[in-house]
Amino acid sequence: MQHVQSPVIPVVGELIRRHPGTISLGQGVVHFGPPPEATARAVAFLSDHPNHKYQAVDGISELRQAIENKLRAENGIEARPASHVVVTAGGNMAFINALAAIADEGDEIVLQAPYYFNHEMAVVMFGCRPVIVPTDADYQLRPDAIAAAITPRTRAVVTISPNNPSGAVYSERALREVNDLCRRRNVFHIHDEAYEYFLYGGARHFSPGSIPGSAEHTISLFSLSKAYGFAAWRIGYMVLPDRLLAAVKKVQDTVLICPAVVSQEAACGALASGVEYCRPKIEALGRVRQLVLDELSEITSFCRVPQADGAFYFLVDVDSPLKPMSVVERLVRDFGVAVIPGTTFGIETGCTLRIAYGALEAGTVAEGMGRLVRGLKAIVASK
Ligand SMILES: Cc1ncc(COP(=O)(O)O)c(C=O)c1O
Repeated sequence: MQHVQSPVIPVVGELIRRHPGTISLGQGVVHFGPPPEATARAVAFLSDHPNHKYQAVDGISELRQAIENKLRAENGIEARPASHVVVTAGGNMAFINALAAIADEGDEIVLQAPYYFNHEMAVVMFGCRPVIVPTDADYQLRPDAIAAAITPRTRAVVTISPNNPSGAVYSERALREVNDLCRRRNVFHIHDEAYEYFLYGGARHFSPGSIPGSAEHTISLFSLSKAYGFAAWRIGYMVLPDRLLAAVKKVQDTVLICPAVVSQEAACGALASGVEYCRPKIEALGRVRQLVLDELSEITSFCRVPQADGAFYFLVDVDSPLKPMSVVERLVRDFGVAVIPGTTFGIETGCTLRIAYGALEAGTVAEGMGRLVRGLKAIVASK
């Protein structure tokens, strides 16, 4: 554990607590909660005595069926017979399950930089080696660099689209290329689709698990946390090759026994209300995103904003010799706004900051962005 980085979110959280009134453009959560169907199911669940017992390790059958239907209709993924759906306690646990099933100590896992810090932490925790492949200037995949990073010890290539922390949406072509590379080189392709619905300006989502012949080597990870404002309920799911099912069940049985059943009930309600529930909320987020872009357009002389058509993040590059964490500290202390330093995501050079705009109402984001722009102007001018 001494080799595992400490997550920075609680550190920034503590800074915010010490400076009351700070607007947080830090944490990656949405401002809306679950649909009424989800909470109604949870309430009804409580009165039924057998519900309080352990249930199936891989999830209750009603939820697994609803997930299979959703995967077929929306993602083009046929979960059976070559694959299997396992309900997990969130997308993070799905990633841990996957790693435990496929990797031994000393094995290599290819991550794209910037990476999602919990992925990197999990790889180190398992005694594996994260092999970090930088994306391009617009945070897009570089399939040739990924190919060059694969060695006989590589067990998996990890991709996330839409991406945390960059907001980049990977093209179908690039994802097909990476998936095909994984098939040819006999490594798994772990693809995280936690932000699948969060797309703007005509960007399209693609699931590599829908590629014919990909079931044997593709592990697809999903989460209800963002789409349904469901983060506290801890429900995600994974689609994995059938040959990994026994291993994943061992892990999940040992760690969790089964995902909290009341949460699974609520998840059935959430999936029943479906993407129609999420769509207007994400359209509203699109307007907030535009507001963020408008504010950032004021500081293009020293702040580069790579294209980000998904999730609810911008990862901006500030032209400053200062370390990103010290910029974050000054932003909180002197300007009352918090963002996350790029170092958390494996960006070692320059001054990169992640702006998250999902957690706040439009008015608060506008005020926070005003503070951020004023703060960055002052900090960059003063050096
Ligand atoms: C890419 C990605 N995967 C997974 C998660 C974790 O989701 P969950 O709440 O389902 O564990 C997050 C949360 O920020 C994320 O950004």
